[in-house]
Amino acid sequence: MPEQSTLEPLKVAVLISGRGTNLQSLIDTFGPDIADSPVKIVLVLSNRPDAQGLERAAKAGLKTEIVDHKSFATREDFDVAMDREIRAAGAAFIVLAGFMRLLTEGFINAWKDRMINIHPALLPAFPGLHTHQRALEAGVKLHGCTVHFVRHETDTGPIIAQAAVPVLPGDDETTLAARVLHAEHRLYPLALRLIAEGKVRVEAERAIVAEASAADGILFNPAIG
Ligand code: GRF
Repeated sequence: MPEQSTLEPLKVAVLISGRGTNLQSLIDTFGPDIADSPVKIVLVLSNRPDAQGLERAAKAGLKTEIVDHKSFATREDFDVAMDREIRAAGAAFIVLAGFMRLLTEGFINAWKDRMINIHPALLPAFPGLHTHQRALEAGVKLHGCTVHFVRHETDTGPIIAQAAVPVLPGDDETTLAARVLHAEHRLYPLALRLIAEGKVRVEAERAIVAEASAADGILFNPAIG
């Protein structure tokens, strides 16, 4: 667990593969222009040279690196190269933000409880891909997103925070994805702030959040008149 004093921001590497809207929400909350940020983004690393998120990072004046997975013979070699860049940048914590490569056990163990992911579903429901389509097919009335510490099994690990949104009549994959993404952009900075402030610890594979208080009331869908 990161031990943070009030003076020392948590140094974070953000790993991306694509458009980077979650990265953008982190830049807007913790970027170089933000005074007294508890988080300092020291590196934005992409496995894809064409990731749109790299432009967002560069525009914000952040250090960027490309570690192209296609240049490596094995997953192990790729992860070692990433690990080297992350440590060279001085990062103490990793934030996966739409990073679309499976990580090796060695990398995951090396960053245990110091690496988080955001997943577009209310885990443990709908791990994996196509979460919005699967939520629609299942007919769930609440859907959402989850921030969790990363473990070896895909989309598992101690859950730090979740946000729920209603599935509305007439929703399709696009409208539902947009509603969840909006929630992601609020949830990820919130969860990272809690970690940076030292308010999250893992006990018996559960994340305990100090001073956690849920919003009042119950979220009904359909709403009860
Ligand atoms: C998000 O839906 C996130 O939950 C998932 O990948 C997507 C990344 O989107 N892990 P963006 O690149 O942050 O826009």
